[in-house]
Amino acid sequence: MDNLEGWKRSHTCGELTAKENGLDVTLMGWVHRRRDHGSLIFIDLRDRYGLTQIVFDPDLIPEKYQTAKDLRGEFVIAARGKVRVRPEGMVNPNIATGTIEVAVADLKILNRAKTPPFEIDGDVEVSEEVRLKYRYLDLRNTSMQKNMLLRHQMYQVVRSYFNRNNFVEVETPILMRSTPEGARDYLVPSRIHNGKFYALPQSPQTYKQILMVAGMDRYFQIVRCFRDEDLRHDRQPEFTQIDVEMSFVEQDDVLEMVENLMADLFKETLGVELQMPVRRLSYQEALETYGSDKPDLRFDMKIVDISSLVQDCEFKVFSGCVKNGGRVCGVALLGGAKYSRKQVDTLTEEMQREGAKGLVAIKVGAEGWDSSLAKFFESEAVTEINESFGVKEGDLLLLVADEKNTALTLAGSLRLKLADRENLISEDKYELCWVLDFPLLEYDEEEKRYGARHHPFTSPMDEDLAILEDNPKEARAKAYDLVLNGYEVAGGSIRIHRRELQDRMFRLLNISEEEAYDKFGFLLDAFEYGAPPHGGIAFGFDRLVMILAREQSIRNVIAFPKTNSALSLMDGSPSSVSDDQLKELGLRVI
Ligand code: AMO
Repeated sequence: MDNLEGWKRSHTCGELTAKENGLDVTLMGWVHRRRDHGSLIFIDLRDRYGLTQIVFDPDLIPEKYQTAKDLRGEFVIAARGKVRVRPEGMVNPNIATGTIEVAVADLKILNRAKTPPFEIDGDVEVSEEVRLKYRYLDLRNTSMQKNMLLRHQMYQVVRSYFNRNNFVEVETPILMRSTPEGARDYLVPSRIHNGKFYALPQSPQTYKQILMVAGMDRYFQIVRCFRDEDLRHDRQPEFTQIDVEMSFVEQDDVLEMVENLMADLFKETLGVELQMPVRRLSYQEALETYGSDKPDLRFDMKIVDISSLVQDCEFKVFSGCVKNGGRVCGVALLGGAKYSRKQVDTLTEEMQREGAKGLVAIKVGAEGWDSSLAKFFESEAVTEINESFGVKEGDLLLLVADEKNTALTLAGSLRLKLADRENLISEDKYELCWVLDFPLLEYDEEEKRYGARHHPFTSPMDEDLAILEDNPKEARAKAYDLVLNGYEVAGGSIRIHRRELQDRMFRLLNISEEEAYDKFGFLLDAFEYGAPPHGGIAFGFDRLVMILAREQSIRNVIAFPKTNSALSLMDGSPSSVSDDQLKELGLRVI
């Protein structure tokens, strides 16, 4: 094995072109592929920047040619040689260096490698478990390198944007008191204070508000947050937020600041011009029209409420539901009458697994409906329903009947399933929207009390202050979510900055003075010393990268992610610790 000993890399593996023809160069990298052509050995040498073909000719370097014969995939080598333009017919238009090759004059093997468990950029699909266990190899794949570079670029755009706009980057503690985001905390036991625990931040919410009291005016941080919750393809136990807080602002100021950041991000990373200003939907509108508070607007298919049209019909499932205060609604699939009985049954089963009592599918024919249900409806009703959906012969109506919010959510889910089945979403589309006017509170059926939908520091809307106590469930919050392609990518609010209103809010949430003081006393204390009006937002940075990278899983844009069961397969965490460590912490595992 060789050392570098004065060898210096002159170029990366991604930059040589015909312009460098005849130049003596030194390249370093990994052996990507080796092709032994009897008389010549070709090696694709790889680094982060690309691939360069290097050629070993036994007539020119008999000794090194023998060494080259021993090279295997992922060996780390250094090669010196002359750039030459490839002969006609040998040009590879798929890579940046495809017009040249390097005729090797000297070679060093810097390190050997075991045969990797999978080929880098290979054709064979590798299980995610293996990829995560050998993450250092997985990260060598071009797609992962691209994702990491995109992520890097996005960090730079974010920092530059906020810097230009007078924001100050401040780091907040990782070892802290429990935060009010509402998920389960990750706890860290204290050695010095046995029996006491730090919580890892679910977000820096309390700190950023205190920074406003501290006069920082505009704060941002790219910050790691920790939540012990059930994981999904877009959720990780530790994830990154772009966290933002601003003083002396109202909702529109925050929204505008965020919209301009999104415009910069898309333009500078993808070259995409987003349509500005971003569309705004109220929470109610989003729910009624798309059955979701994070609507995917890349395709149309709006939900139609036909409750008033079916309330007196003979079909008891519908009329009964409406009489009980429920809702009958659904979506239309244009051209969907081609769906077979089996396809409808499969869809029905899927919907039932999500809690639907059933799914009514009606094919629209030339004369009314091709459905056993037709007999329950007057022909005027059929016409009216068809018109409200805008359907004609050959289309399919899919309807659910349930309690209002359940029916809407089910119809929303149906909408997404159909878009997926019918390929209604074009890959390169980006549809942003704001969802505004969220309910302030959320009723917790288990605890039989109201909880804050966002967090307890979110301000109610001024016009709803009067109904806070008498009609709390109708009160709306100055809260906003930014939704991109059906993902909630950011959420925030204007905060309560006056003590009286904060106390009212705690009373509403059934949080006693002691409890409030115990949990957030430091913040309440801070608010006594001149808290400015303030508000902010936090982006789920990983989600944003995932969408811009067109990845389906957040794990593909995080260098070292956890599995869905919160394991790190590479380093084997979480792991047991020694009895001595436990003793020091005053802990016993039971
Ligand atoms: P919120 O809880 O809505 O707000 O979080 C902000 C954004 O973070 C992302 N996110 C996640 N991403 C990956 N994995 C997770 N487990 C996860 N949980 C949340 C989402 C979400 O929109 N302090 C407030 C913000 C504020 O009020 O300013 C907060 O944390 O994209």
